[in-house]
Amino acid sequence: MKTVLLTGGLGYIGSHIAVCLQQSWRVVIVDNLANSSLEQLDRLQQLCPIAKADVFVADCADLTAFEAVYASIRPDAVIHLAGHKAVGESVEKPLMYYHNNLNATMNVLTLCARYATRTLIFSSSATVYGPQVSPMREDMALLETLNPYAETKAMSERMIRDFVKTHPDFQSTVLRYFNPVGAHPSGLIGERPNGIPNNLLPYIQQVASGKRPHLNVFGNDYPTPDGTPIRDYIHVMDLAQAHVAALNGATLGHHVYNVGTGKGTSVLELVTAFETATKIRIPVVVTARRAGDLVESTADVSKIEKELGWKATRSLETICLDAWKFESSQR
Ligand code: UFG
Repeated sequence: MKTVLLTGGLGYIGSHIAVCLQQSWRVVIVDNLANSSLEQLDRLQQLCPIAKADVFVADCADLTAFEAVYASIRPDAVIHLAGHKAVGESVEKPLMYYHNNLNATMNVLTLCARYATRTLIFSSSATVYGPQVSPMREDMALLETLNPYAETKAMSERMIRDFVKTHPDFQSTVLRYFNPVGAHPSGLIGERPNGIPNNLLPYIQQVASGKRPHLNVFGNDYPTPDGTPIRDYIHVMDLAQAHVAALNGATLGHHVYNVGTGKGTSVLELVTAFETATKIRIPVVVTARRAGDLVESTADVSKIEKELGWKATRSLETICLDAWKFESSQR
């Protein structure tokens, strides 16, 4: 069985990928626990037989520490997820984002070259499109991004593209995630934000569980049918399966794909979908717009469907039910 290394593999998205890959790949994880914990591993082990010895606590931005681990793994493929991901924090602490996210990507490429790993899947974000008109297409030019987090994703993509130009035996796939939400249907793993959630569905989940009194809707005067911004919410299990498709369908060269559903949902539509699925009322208070929010961000998903044969299948109702199952298991 071939070995795949998941950097940041104990995090929200990595742990779901580990579950989906375990039947066909030996999964090894490197994680610095910056936004995850070893408790996550206990829960993950209830879903897949990943050995404790295959989980390494190390920082990918530290080449010496990372190489010590990498040399013992010598993976056939890497799925590079490790990185800071909070937009607001990246504006406050830009150097922390540039240091961590860019060094981690550079180190992954350095070690791929040094240890003959020839397949890389990179966790990118729809945020690289900046304020362009949806649906976003992979062939759109990447313009100036809106914050340091987005910039680290765009710069990492370019770093990988340029690396591949000089390594013709390499296959890299960049996956641009739209809005990953939901949880594994078991309720064992899901997203657990530290402190106040930045993202919409985790916040709704906490209102439903009584941790927060109401949802603040950041503006209802946008040019959309109900005045609230539109996003492309994708179930994290669909997203995880896109990584399986990318890994199994990897071909030589550099490839970029959107990973979304192609469908737009407004903030208020997501609130209603959650209320309908769970029968729990979510009080909302409309507040000022949040700086930097786009009116609309949805994916054109025709390329990934055509080339990798992957398509999201889970509904908004499933997203809300699975998210709620996870949240209610946390109490
Ligand atoms: N929103 C609220 N109230 C909240 C939280 C969010 O009204 O408490 C609104 C936002 O204003 C936005 C929508 O819900 O209109 C979605 O916001 P999220 O923070 O959930 O998601 P974003 O689309 O802003 O950002 C997400 C990720 C980024 C990533 C981006 C890619 O958080 O890391 O998608 O498009 F870059």
